[in-house]
Amino acid sequence: MLTPQTSPRTVYNTAASLDGYIATTDHSLAWLLSRESDESGPMGFTEFLAGVGAIAMGANTYRWILDNEGTQPWPYTVPSWVCTHREFPRRTDADIRFTSAEIPALHKEMTDVAAGKDLWIVGGGELAATFADHGLLDEIIVSIAPVTLGAGAPLLPRELELRMTELAANGEFACLRYAVVRGQS
Ligand SMILES: NC(=O)c1ccc[n+]([C@@H]2O[C@H](COP(=O)([O-])OP(=O)(O)OC[C@H]3O[C@@H](n4cnc5c(N)ncnc54)[C@H](OP(=O)(O)O)[C@@H]3O)[C@@H](O)[C@H]2O)c1
Repeated sequence: MLTPQTSPRTVYNTAASLDGYIATTDHSLAWLLSRESDESGPMGFTEFLAGVGAIAMGANTYRWILDNEGTQPWPYTVPSWVCTHREFPRRTDADIRFTSAEIPALHKEMTDVAAGKDLWIVGGGELAATFADHGLLDEIIVSIAPVTLGAGAPLLPRELELRMTELAANGEFACLRYAVVRGQS
């Protein structure tokens, strides 16, 4: 196994079905949220989140949080950018920044704010792929749930060459970390 790249990295960390979807076609995550995992366990979320200084997500991911966790506190303490061309309700309990900036400008802004910590691309797949299009995605961490969905929101709709740097079992999930290999399509 190879040593993962050191911070600051731009990391797409997500959970997916075995057949490569991060949500069903109607944006349900029921297939995911019912699973057993240990956030403090191997490749767990607690350690990952501690290294993150800025977050980016797409509009539908933000919409999901509003619809499904709207009565709960915003789950992240670091600044969160929401990529969108739409108007959304603004939460007052968190540092949320709506943007339609080009990805290189967004990446620079996030990097400045993160002050040496990692950038987390939450999803969806097209947003993560756009960072990769600009050579600005360093790692992909995917936790694969033991289910196939047949259709849905794609994990990463691009051809990217990857190099596996870590592999672990955590609860029901197979967790994989990949470095994005630069200079290849
Ligand atoms: N399995 C997991 O761990 C996981 C993780 C994250 C998300 N999810 C789920 O996966 C689904 C993802 O939905 P999705 O595939 O539709 O992706 P998404 O990125 O959440 O939403 C896509 C929308 O975001 C906006 N957008 C994306 N990139 C942009 C950019 N560069 N600039 C400006 N706007 C941009 C566009 O909306 P507008 O232009 O119309 O505003 C676009 O239609 C959601 O259901 C989410 O809850 C699952």
